[in-house]
Amino acid sequence: MRVGILTAGGDCPGLNAAIRGVGKTLIMRYGATVYGFSSGFLGLIENEYRILTESDLSNILTLGGTILGTSREKPFKKTDQYLKEIDKPAIIKENYEKLGLDCLVCIGGNGTQKTAYKLQQQGLNVIGLPKTIDNDVWGTDISFGFDSAVSIATEAIDRLHTTANAHRRIMVIELMGHHTGWLALYAGVAGGGDVILIPELPFDLDAIADYLKERLRKNKRSSIIVVAEGVINKENKSAARYLSKKIGEKIDQEVRETILGYIQRGGSPSPYDRILATRYGGFAAELIAEKKYGHMVAIRNDKLIALPLGEVAGTLKKVPADHPLIAQAAHIGTSFGMPM
Ligand code: F6P
Repeated sequence: MRVGILTAGGDCPGLNAAIRGVGKTLIMRYGATVYGFSSGFLGLIENEYRILTESDLSNILTLGGTILGTSREKPFKKTDQYLKEIDKPAIIKENYEKLGLDCLVCIGGNGTQKTAYKLQQQGLNVIGLPKTIDNDVWGTDISFGFDSAVSIATEAIDRLHTTANAHRRIMVIELMGHHTGWLALYAGVAGGGDVILIPELPFDLDAIADYLKERLRKNKRSSIIVVAEGVINKENKSAARYLSKKIGEKIDQEVRETILGYIQRGGSPSPYDRILATRYGGFAAELIAEKKYGHMVAIRNDKLIALPLGEVAGTLKKVPADHPLIAQAAHIGTSFGMPM
């Protein structure tokens, strides 16, 4: 068997664990030849690849980033001026066929799975692996990268508590999540955020100010507001700066903001993500061996399943308003930005 692998979209901890999981299983269990494409779908367009051997896949389990590199190239979108004149999907198919590939493994988030599905419709055999710190890939309980980002963000929130307390301040920390609030919700609860704001739940600035004033009345020295970047549209400015300014105008307490940014995407994966990425990789290799193409590997109640890419492609998994973690956090006094 000849199998191509690529990593596309935003990077995250665990990508190399996934490459290692699918690549080593293909080589050691099925005797396959593995082609690692550079920079996501761009590598397929430019036929930039290298054969990955067992030794290439050693000592990368704990490595952040991706040994293949990534990009946000979207072959079905005529966005890049340089590549505008050419039919990128046709070139991908030609390169795929010239190499005699049996399958292409696309490791990525929503956009990647959508492109994978379109390539499958063009006649390529494709398998998807769900990756994103946002955890917003439809159909799977969890994408790898998410647990690592929750750990990183939680540690940052822990640190903000001590400095906020020292100065009797309100600290606003902005986490990633441009469409969904999974990261802000989980890290907010894990970090003991007093206010958690996510794109899925509307919030009211006066309600937040009233909640913070109530905390002051109860002699709480400081408050932590955890906000997902997507709660306001990007055109305005950062959510943290917006909230810091608006709340600063409504309450007699110093407010400071922190934008955690790409720290959440860097460094070594958590043990949980190393295991999940390895499981996803091994299962993907099994699907390829069984010629069960056109699916994305997923996990539900800790059971690995194969979802048809058509069901996943381009569907966002948003935080439901009735998510039990929201209720539980509210029961211990966390505000989600609405009147008490
Ligand atoms: O999709 C994951 C993500 O980290 C989002 O949370 C974030 O808004 C976006 O990628 C940043 O994109 P880029 O890496 O292209 O700046």
